[in-house]
Amino acid sequence: ANLSAIAPALLDWYDANARSLPWRAPPNTPAPDPYRVWLSEVMLQQTQVATVRPYFEKFVARWPDFASLAAAEDAELMAAWAGLGYYARARNLLACARAVANDHRGVLPDTEEGLRALPGLGAYTAAAIAAIAFGRRAVVVDANVERVVARLFALPQPLPAGRPAIRVATDSITPEMRAGDFAQAMMDLGSGICTPRAPRCLLCPLRTQCDAFATGDPEAFPLKAPK
Ligand code: ADE
Repeated sequence: ANLSAIAPALLDWYDANARSLPWRAPPNTPAPDPYRVWLSEVMLQQTQVATVRPYFEKFVARWPDFASLAAAEDAELMAAWAGLGYYARARNLLACARAVANDHRGVLPDTEEGLRALPGLGAYTAAAIAAIAFGRRAVVVDANVERVVARLFALPQPLPAGRPAIRVATDSITPEMRAGDFAQAMMDLGSGICTPRAPRCLLCPLRTQCDAFATGDPEAFPLKAPK
């Protein structure tokens, strides 16, 4: 793979094919609202996009910013969260909104390190928010991105042992500019094109760069551990 060709090809594809999602900035607007990015990333931690979407809309209509969410009652929030599962996330969501409101004057920290110090924000979520809300060059690796990168480089190690190599490879293709769009483009590619079964390689903007495509059996990657 030609490392420097990957991000430009992917970003061109994203400009034409990005999913329209309520937490993304509309095309030709400067930046998404950090509150919306944070809320969406916490909701998306263990829950699929299609499930999250109506909850996200309901939450931002009722609590449009950190201050309003920080003022919510625990029971109100838990009731609104019902159905999303993993209720520790809802408790952390409220703790995080209160920390932002009380300790950060209502402004979300704009670095990975600052974000990681908040309740409920692990390495993945902090990286995603830093990139998407603040344009930081962060390395954002979720399950979809793992598969895309394992294929692009035809990585020889199965998961989970291959995770460190996947991080290094993702770092090597993450651009300085538009890191948030790049991260979301990788997610969209993984969910719509570079799918676990029957990847749609003929529609893939990275096909000519993809080492797994070149093997003739892209679906074999990431390789499965021998039993
Ligand atoms: N999954 C986690 N974050 C996402 C995002 N910003 N867009 C699409 N899917 C996601």
